[in-house]
Amino acid sequence: MTLRSVIIGTGSFLPAKRVSNAELAERVDTTDEWIVERTGIRFRHIAGDDETTSTLATEAARAALESAGVEATSIDLIVLATATPDQTFPASATRVQTALGINDCVAFDVAAVCSGFLYALQVADSMIRAGAHRRALVIGAETFSRILDWEDRATCVLFGDGAGAVVLQAQESAEQGGRGILATRLHADGRHNDLLYVDGGPSTTGTVGKLRMKGREVFRHAVVNLAAVMSETLEVAGLSSADVDWVVPHQANARILDATARKLGLAPGKVVVTVDQHANTSAASVPLALDTAVRDGRIKQGDLIVLEAMGGGFTWGAAVVRF
Ligand code: UT7
Repeated sequence: MTLRSVIIGTGSFLPAKRVSNAELAERVDTTDEWIVERTGIRFRHIAGDDETTSTLATEAARAALESAGVEATSIDLIVLATATPDQTFPASATRVQTALGINDCVAFDVAAVCSGFLYALQVADSMIRAGAHRRALVIGAETFSRILDWEDRATCVLFGDGAGAVVLQAQESAEQGGRGILATRLHADGRHNDLLYVDGGPSTTGTVGKLRMKGREVFRHAVVNLAAVMSETLEVAGLSSADVDWVVPHQANARILDATARKLGLAPGKVVVTVDQHANTSAASVPLALDTAVRDGRIKQGDLIVLEAMGGGFTWGAAVVRF
């Protein structure tokens, strides 16, 4: 028997305010054509004044719990991936915990920017497989609109706010091909800090800071790293790209999604694309895309899915999951 973490529910949440490229073009020197052609993005959702990362995360978690058909109080672990926490401390995960009415469980945040959900998933999976926890909420939630420089057209058009969540459950599996997280692989290379970062922080400037990115260089690294980590993770699972039903990638740029799928020899029709509707929601993007494809019926129980992401640090990673 093998102890595995099985995804028993997914959920997501988007702020009501939806902003088109044309609306952004009224604020900065850009056009709908440029944004669509270079990124594939058409819309992004922006958090209202009364919304924060933890409120978005809580709604996504509620939806995931409902789809799993389990009570919040049965959760014994919350791992929240975010680069835009409500407060420097305590962890936003503890705010989600309280909002869900859970009085005692392990709850903490993971900071790996756009790869945050993959990092959080591996951490939760390891804790479950070690036998320490039975049922976990793994959440990616962000309010990047709060750290964007709204004067910088090269970055402010690319990001949006949102949250996605999964419920993981410990399950003994006798079969080799059974459900659950089959393999995960994570990487980081801190030498590239200056290509994608926030120019503030509590122990440097004492301010929150704004996002800065050298987009073209990030793009180049993204395609190479993502294709490599997907191949590596599939190999660890003893599988190949021919076995994959769906890739659920980090939604940064439609051109990155196309280029990575091509490198792996995957048909574009097997890639879940939500970047057009949500833009880049950092740690939220993978679970948001996953929930979208589960709810619209594309991803079904038993499908082999590959999750992947790359972001600031650089950090990057992938997970192979029998859904
Ligand atoms: O989530 C973490 C991972 N992040 C990513 O994966 C982002 C990766 N990078 C990208 O997606 C792309 O590099 C971008 C979409 C950010 C930029 O696309 P690009 O084709 O690499 O364009 P560029 O940055 O090289 O800029 C090309 C031109 C420049 O003008 P000049 O210097 O050629 O005259 C920019 O000033 O496009 C200009 N430009 C814009 N024009 C209209 C940059 N932003 C805009 C804009 N509207 N919003």
